[in-house]
Amino acid sequence: MRKPVIAGNWKMYKLLGDAVDTSLELKTLVANATHCEVVIAPVFTALKTVADRLEGSNIHVAAQDCAIQNDFGAHTGEVAPVMLKDAGCSHVIVGHSERRQFYGETDESVNWKTMAALAAGLTPIVCVGEQLPDREAGDAESVVKTQLEGGLNGLTVSDLERIIVAYEPVWAIGTGKTATPEQAQEMHAFIRESVGEVHGNDAAENLRILYGGSVKPDNIAELMSQEDVDGALVGGASLDAQSFSKIVNYKQ
Ligand code: 13P
Repeated sequence: MRKPVIAGNWKMYKLLGDAVDTSLELKTLVANATHCEVVIAPVFTALKTVADRLEGSNIHVAAQDCAIQNDFGAHTGEVAPVMLKDAGCSHVIVGHSERRQFYGETDESVNWKTMAALAAGLTPIVCVGEQLPDREAGDAESVVKTQLEGGLNGLTVSDLERIIVAYEPVWAIGTGKTATPEQAQEMHAFIRESVGEVHGNDAAENLRILYGGSVKPDNIAELMSQEDVDGALVGGASLDAQSFSKIVNYKQ
């Protein structure tokens, strides 16, 4: 059984006070959610405070990115996974499309970050997803497969048990255009099959694959009803505690 994960990516929103207020409101609203794991990803500067305030709750804290390695050194501006763990994080988002598109993230750096996160005891949420022209050209699957092979290169079966993959079609992010449940299911099944080819069927069966891209309270239930959709990575609709709690509590 794959336990669902509902994760909120707060991107570059919220000053510290707002991040704390939203976290505390959410803590109450999702206190009874046992059917899924709840994760929120505030900006770096809010991680420690939010993690402290959520201690003992059922909400996990994630960073939105990390350095490619854990060795301390002259890497101005970077934050090592081990430092994120030290600040109270349990998860880290790696390879988000916004980082791939605008900040030079490559499959190789995603691979390094994933391994560094695992080494620090964090759960990496590895993002993949095609752009609109890829889908229109019929290349969505090959693009995602390349990202997966590059990002997960060299991982062992036991590493695979500790990661989460998020499928986020770039054309659905922040656009209000959700992939249809069928489109999501089709790609998730393809991702599972591709992981199975490289890492074996057990690893593939146990892998949690989240969908991201315009997930809202009114479309989450249908997405979650798909066999290979094991959760969601939510942007805009996670910024408000009421709206995100409705997504977390999609079952009630
Ligand atoms: P939206 O939910 O705002 O489309 O963002 C999705 C996303 O990028 C989550 O990482």
